[in-house]
Amino acid sequence: MRYVPTHRAKLGEVDLKAYLDLRRPLVESKLNELLPSEREEPATLHRAMRYSALGGGKRFRPILCIAAAEACGGSSDAVLEASCAIEMVHCFSLIHDDLPALDNDDLRRGKPTCHVVFGEAVAILAGDALFSLAFQTLSGIDVSDPAKSRAISALAFASGTDGMVGGQIVDIESHGKQVTLESVEWIHQRKTGALIAAACEIGAIVGGGSEGDVDRCKRAGERIGLAFQITDDVLDEISDSESLGKTAGKDREACKATYPSVMGIERSMALAKSAADEAVQVAESFGDGAIGLRLLARYSVERVR
Ligand code: IPE
Ligand code: IPE
Ligand code: MG
Ligand code: MG
Ligand code: MG
Repeated sequence: MRYVPTHRAKLGEVDLKAYLDLRRPLVESKLNELLPSEREEPATLHRAMRYSALGGGKRFRPILCIAAAEACGGSSDAVLEASCAIEMVHCFSLIHDDLPALDNDDLRRGKPTCHVVFGEAVAILAGDALFSLAFQTLSGIDVSDPAKSRAISALAFASGTDGMVGGQIVDIESHGKQVTLESVEWIHQRKTGALIAAACEIGAIVGGGSEGDVDRCKRAGERIGLAFQITDDVLDEISDSESLGKTAGKDREACKATYPSVMGIERSMALAKSAADEAVQVAESFGDGAIGLRLLARYSVERVR
């Protein structure tokens, strides 16, 4: 399916639900196309990859990538493919995050987790394969070589020791410890914020944004990423497993480093809202084309799952 951007003139009229509903199926369908078939060997690996990457999830990061590209005036098939590469890294991070050695979760996106269904060895390998497929996908997009290499570098940086994996290790090492606000912010900016910021940055790069556009999109993404993970912590405390599609109340039980554990629910939510407001302000500097970015910044804190 080809990605058809919403006409700019209509963007001001769309609401959040319509905005997401228009883009989510495009992401789903492109992911379906990019993921290896279950009929191809090694079929078990492909089944596990497809099980975890398809049929669930808000698709927040890929839609954010598309929104950043729209803010910079460009949306194309290359943007859609890049957005799927980001979602693949995200799905990999979820599979590994749920493993017994990490958060030991058995429910994800309303279904049993990958390791529960396929076993730990297959889950580890399915995560590895999704991570690799993300870079294969990004290296195949139809953009200039400089833009492609910048996008690849942004995704690599956000996924590794300075980003998601770096945040995850400190998250694990902080279990059961008294953490400061500074250290929980450090963790959240990396384990979640980095990939969300990269979604905005890559959208701007692949969408043909100027140097300044890329910087502003990344800055908005950093605030959205922090707001998103604070909200995740709060939802873990106040929501239920059925609405979340994952086990609620696990963070407190596992003595995780979360915002509510450091400053309580109300102050955490106020902080998340102010981070989202900062992102909205940055997005406003793009004018009407950034309606998606503004809607998603609000959604990062107003969402219920
Ligand atoms: C869950 O991410 C993990 C976090 C970084 C908080 P999402 O809340 O985006 O999960 P899905 O993709 O919608 O399942
Ligand atoms: C997840 O943080 C961060 C990554 C997956 C990188 P959480 O551990 O809080 O995410 P959930 O709550 O399991 O989705
Ligand atoms: Mg975790
Ligand atoms: Mg977890
Ligand atoms: Mg969580």
